[in-house]
Amino acid sequence: MNADSHAVAINATWRDLPAAQQPEYPDAEALRDAVDELSSYPPLVFAGECDQLRSRMGAVARGEAFLLQGGDCAESFDGVSAEHIRAKLKTLLQMGAVLTYAASVPVVKVGRIAGQYSKPRSKPTETRDGVTLPTYRGDSVNGFAFTEEARVPDPQRLKRMYNASASTLNLVRAFTTGGYADLRQVHAWNQDFVKSSPSGQRYEQLAREIDNALNFMRACGTDPEEFKTVEFYSSHEALLLDYETALTREDSRTGSLYDVSSHMIWIGERTRQLDGAHIEFASKVRNPIGIKLGPTTTAEEALQYIERLDPDREPGRLTFIVRMGADKIRDHLPELVEKVTASGATVAWVTDPMHGNTFEAASGHKTRRFDDVLDEVKGFFEVHKSLGTHPGGIHVELTGDDVTECVGGGDEIFVDDLHQRYETACDPRLNRSQSLDLAFLVAEMYRDQ
Ligand code: PEP
Ligand code: CO
Repeated sequence: MNADSHAVAINATWRDLPAAQQPEYPDAEALRDAVDELSSYPPLVFAGECDQLRSRMGAVARGEAFLLQGGDCAESFDGVSAEHIRAKLKTLLQMGAVLTYAASVPVVKVGRIAGQYSKPRSKPTETRDGVTLPTYRGDSVNGFAFTEEARVPDPQRLKRMYNASASTLNLVRAFTTGGYADLRQVHAWNQDFVKSSPSGQRYEQLAREIDNALNFMRACGTDPEEFKTVEFYSSHEALLLDYETALTREDSRTGSLYDVSSHMIWIGERTRQLDGAHIEFASKVRNPIGIKLGPTTTAEEALQYIERLDPDREPGRLTFIVRMGADKIRDHLPELVEKVTASGATVAWVTDPMHGNTFEAASGHKTRRFDDVLDEVKGFFEVHKSLGTHPGGIHVELTGDDVTECVGGGDEIFVDDLHQRYETACDPRLNRSQSLDLAFLVAEMYRDQ
């Protein structure tokens, strides 16, 4: 058996099960060729890093740390530029600084980045002006343009996804370890932003306080190495199982399997069937795993996810990313948390306040209200406070660019503004100012819990 087919064969048990949301490639041989080639490529992450993130997520699950996970709904190949990547990272670093300082909690930083190219869709086709075409499923599958040609699934795109992920991760690693993320740069991250925005000004004040604290520490003779770099991890939805399998490798140290396309992977709301291929795939790899839980999730299902994905009850292995909607979370979450806690499992509970709060504006733009996002986070904190459990983190869709995709926020975006800079390839994202607003408000909630 050669190395290529070995890599494909090692995590293939899912192939016997129904796999939702997979593209229908017109040319099976072209898919096989692309997957074989991918199987020979070097890993994007090291298994030891996945273990480290699992251990960090263990701290989140135990109530000792807070997860900040964020990035685009869908990354695009065109978005792989220094400017876009830097802006996204900067936003996450600023949010991380706000949460760490204002909430006094260690923050585990994970991007929806370097692999978030595949989208589950609620409908297989899209109709515009009487023309019906296959729906756009992310740059890893087909093209965004509304033409017959662009919408054909093309397996060559899987290799482009790998390359786009590799170059993104390379720059992220350079920024986070090469000096850009040094805590003494807290002001620099804000430079192009501060004058124009209330959240930027609020951030500037906090950055001054951080500076004072750092100066005080230096004057006392301590200047820790930890401040010079940032631990930052990648994550994406493990949707395309051909790709994720091609990137699954046996760890030479332990013989365990890892999906080395990303540090953390998650299973989406539409592919979390207990008897389906995605859960089977995830059950075989050692990465930290997230599962999105929508409003119909039952406590029984949650317990079965634990059984399937975390049989050893290892804190950090499993994260429940709850996305119920602001109007449902207070009703639906308590039973899940209660029964999971009673079972003795220690999972990380994280809120995704985006996906349950999407609506279509009169202009036709898919959007979200900042106040609904905030209200779902509030509901999440309230539930955990009343049960004495730990609100482990937030999972958000954001960008570093000044887009107009979600309405509201301190630097308010109105419904009539949406058309101005509506750039997302999929769901509406918080812009930089809204993201910072959210970080300040979450820090307050965390302090008050
Ligand atoms: C997403 O995270 O972009 C997504 C599609 O989420 P969900 O699976 O929760 O709907
Ligand atoms: Co989304």
